[in-house]
Amino acid sequence: MENDKLISGALQDDDLEQDETLAGRTLRPQYLNQYIGQDKIKEQLDIFIKAAKMREESLDHVLLFGPPGLGKTTMAFVIANELGVNIKQTSGPAIEKAGDLVAILNELEAGDVLFIDEIHRLSMSVEEVLYSAMEDFYIDIMIGGSDSSRSVHLELPPFTLIGATTRAGMLSNPLRARFGINAHMAYYDLEDLTEIIERTADIFEVDITGDGAYEMARRSRGTPRIANRLLKRVRDYAQIKGTGLIDDTITRQALTMLDVDASGLDYVDQKILKTMIEMYNGGPVGLGTLAVNISEERETLEDMYEPYLIQSGFLVRTRQGRCATAKAYEHFGYSYDKDFERTKVRE
Ligand SMILES: Nc1ncnc2c1ncn2[C@@H]1O[C@H](COP(=O)(O)OP(=O)(O)OP(=O)(O)O)[C@@H](O)[C@H]1O
Ligand SMILES: [Mg+2]
Repeated sequence: MENDKLISGALQDDDLEQDETLAGRTLRPQYLNQYIGQDKIKEQLDIFIKAAKMREESLDHVLLFGPPGLGKTTMAFVIANELGVNIKQTSGPAIEKAGDLVAILNELEAGDVLFIDEIHRLSMSVEEVLYSAMEDFYIDIMIGGSDSSRSVHLELPPFTLIGATTRAGMLSNPLRARFGINAHMAYYDLEDLTEIIERTADIFEVDITGDGAYEMARRSRGTPRIANRLLKRVRDYAQIKGTGLIDDTITRQALTMLDVDASGLDYVDQKILKTMIEMYNGGPVGLGTLAVNISEERETLEDMYEPYLIQSGFLVRTRQGRCATAKAYEHFGYSYDKDFERTKVRE
C-alpha cells in the first residue's frame, strides 16, 4: 500500500546514508553511548527513557530541532533503540491527507515510536488529527459522504511521537505544546567533531592523524554530516595524491580544492557574504533579495546557511535586514569602516 512507501522510504538524501556498503549502514550511532556530543540532551533523554521503561509506559513525545545534519534523525533512531521498540518513519510533506496519518497511526503497536521528519510541514487538517492522538491516544474520523457521514472513534495504543524540524518557529502553538520533551540541537564543538571524524575514519578503515581530524573538524561548520562528507572526499584525495594517510597537510590541500575555506565556509557561504559586501555595501539586505542574487531558495538560505554564519559571527540579523560583520570583511580581505558599522549594524 501507499503507506509502506511513506514510512519505509529512503532514510536520507545523504550520499553517506545511501551508501550500501557496511560502512554506510553502520555510520549512524545506534545507542546513546555511541552518540557523540549533545551531552545535555543525552543526559536528559537517558533519564526520561529509563524512567518510562521502569514504569512500562511510552516515552513522552519528543521534539528535536536544529539545523540540518546535526543528528536529529540519528537521535530518533537511537531513542527507539534505547526504548527497545519499533520505529516508523515518515515526514510532514509525505502525509498528504488526514487519512494517510490515520492509516499510519492505526498500524502502531503499544510503545512504538512514530518519527515525523520536517514536522513543520504538516497540513492543518493532518495536524488536527494529531492533537487528540498525541494527547489522549484516540482519533475521531469522519467516514462517508456529505449526507451519510458519521464520526468514528478510534482508540490508539500509547506511542511516542518524535518530531524533527529545522524551524521550530514554524510549528503551531497547539502542536508544540503537545511535546513533553524539547531538545534543541546545537552546533558541535571542535572536540566532538574531531571525535566523530575519528570514529567515521575507523569505520571506513582509513588512517588519519589527530591533526588531520582536527583540521577537518575546523572546516565542518559544526555539523557531523559535513564532517563525514569532507572525510569521504579527503580520503579520495589522499588515496590519489598521497599515500592514503590523512594528515593536516593533505586535508588542507583537499579542502582548498573543494572550495572549503579555512573557516569551513563553502562556496555558497562565501557567495552570500561576498554578495553582501560587494553589491550591498555590507547590508542591511533582505533575505529574499539575497536569495535571488545567489540563486538559492530563500528557505535554504534561512535553514542551512544563515544559522552557521550567525553563530560564527560573519553575519548579523537586524530589523532592517542582514548585515555582514567586520569579521566577514576581514575574512575576505576587505577593509572595514567602523563608523559605518555603527550606523548600520546597531539593533
Ligand atoms: N552525534 C553524532 N555522532 C556521530 N555521527 C553523527 C552524529 N550525529 C549525526 N551523525 C552523522 O551525521 C549524519 C547526519 O545526521 P542526521 O541525518 O541524523 O542529521 P539530521 O539532523 O536528521 O539532518 P536533517 O535535518 O537534514 O534531516 C549521519 O551520517 C550521522 O551518522
Ligand atoms: Mg534528518
